[in-house]
Formats: sequence, C-alpha cells, structure tokens
Amino acid sequence: MQPQPLPTAPPAATTTPAALSQARFWNRVARKYAADPIADMAGYEATLRRVQALLRPEHSVLEVGCGTGTTALRLAGGTRQLLATDVSSEMIAIAREKLARQPCPQLRFEVADAEVLLARGAQFDTVLAFNVLHLLPDLDRGLDAVLALLKPGGLFMSKTPCLAEMNPLIPRLLVPLMRALGKAPPVLVFDAHALQAAFERHGLVVEAAERHGTKRRDMRVFILARKGR
Ligand SMILES: C[S@@+](CC[C@H](N)C(=O)[O-])C[C@H]1O[C@@H](n2cnc3c(N)ncnc32)[C@H](O)[C@@H]1O
Repeated sequence: MQPQPLPTAPPAATTTPAALSQARFWNRVARKYAADPIADMAGYEATLRRVQALLRPEHSVLEVGCGTGTTALRLAGGTRQLLATDVSSEMIAIAREKLARQPCPQLRFEVADAEVLLARGAQFDTVLAFNVLHLLPDLDRGLDAVLALLKPGGLFMSKTPCLAEMNPLIPRLLVPLMRALGKAPPVLVFDAHALQAAFERHGLVVEAAERHGTKRRDMRVFILARKGR
C-alpha cells in the first residue's frame, strides 16, 4: 500500500506550560542525548523486536515523545505511515537530520506536545510511547489526549520508567536535587501497578506487561494494551 499524506501537527502555541518546561530541558540536552550510547542495547533490541512483530504494513502509527527518532527510524519501514512527534524542537531537528541521511517515505517528524495532540479523531491503528509517560505533567490528562487518537481496538505500546520501583532515596532526594541543578526534567513517580491501573481507567485492556532489560531488574515496564471497541 502507498504511504498516505500524514496529518499535520497542531501549532506549537497550544503547548502547555509544563510541556514547554520539558521542551526547554530536552532542547538543552538533545545533542548529548543523541551522542550517548543506549545503556542496555540488548534490552532495547528486545523491545524493538517485540514491537516490530506487532506492527503491520497497513498500520498508521503515532509515536509520542520520539526523541531523536532512533526508534521511529527502525520501525517506520514496517508500517504504512509513522508520525513521530516530540515537544522538543531540538530533538526533532536531530531526528530530521537522521531522516535526511536515511530517507524513509513512511516517516515524518513533527514538534508536538503529547497532551495537545489534538482533535484529529481516532485515526491511528497503533500509538507508541517510549520513555515519555513519566514526563507528562498529568498522566490521566496525557492518556486522555493520546488515546483519543487511537482507533477502537487499536494497540497502545509503551515502555515507561517506574521510578517508584527504585530505591526511594532516588525519586525523593536525588531527582529533586538533579532538578534543582537543571540536570533532570520534572517527573511523575509511579510503579507499574499504578501505571497499569491508569491504563485500565482509560479503557485499555492490558495484554502484556514485560521487562526487557538484560542488565539488572528493569524498572522500565513494557506494556502492550488494546483500546476497547
Ligand atoms: C527520555 S526521552 C525518550 C526519547 C525516546 N522515546 C527514547 O526512548 O529514546 C523523553 C522525550 O519525551 C519528550 N517529551 C517530554 N514531554 C513531552 C510531551 N508533553 N509531549 C511530547 N514529548 C514530550 C522529550 O522532549 C524527550 O524527547
């Protein structure tokens, strides 16, 4: 099937103040984030394989918080079209540089806040959110906005750091200290149980909750969930 024209993102003016604060943080660290190696490459590849096996060539896919586009570039070839979005213009600039070097007709990158992704209607077969749900200012509001774009019966695939599963000193002391020093963005602290409960409140049926890390207990849970019909 031929790639269809991808819908355009909303004007950046609709971005919330909390998301603008995320954008400022990620704009500042984007080049370093792009240069840093993936900490657990085997775990990352396991997630990619899991997602690739679930995508279909006829799927229209949305990724929120796509960062520098590494994952979107790996996945887009297996879809009809992939719209990869991020609130950070610098992250998207890097993603577009990569796309220019590695063209893929199915893929487009846009600057957009996940929470105001808009009144576009339920048009995506699959929505992806990797390492971003804990950065939303409000999980329920963010899920509302993102899931409104998912077709009934569509798949929501996410991988999310569950900071409440770490040593409590990290979210309670270290993260606030790093935030004060400008070295961490604002984060939500929840465990996988609370995350799964939030999904279920939003009409998702959780089909799998997995940990793909290969180095130590992985606090990032991969959840495969389906939107009710
Ligand atoms: C930890 S990075 C993860 C990037 C990529 N998904 C990955 O797994 O490498 C988090 C990304 O989420 C983006 N982000 C944070 N808040 C967002 C929001 N409200 N809407 C869209 N993107 C957001 C940041 O700009 C950043 O690029």
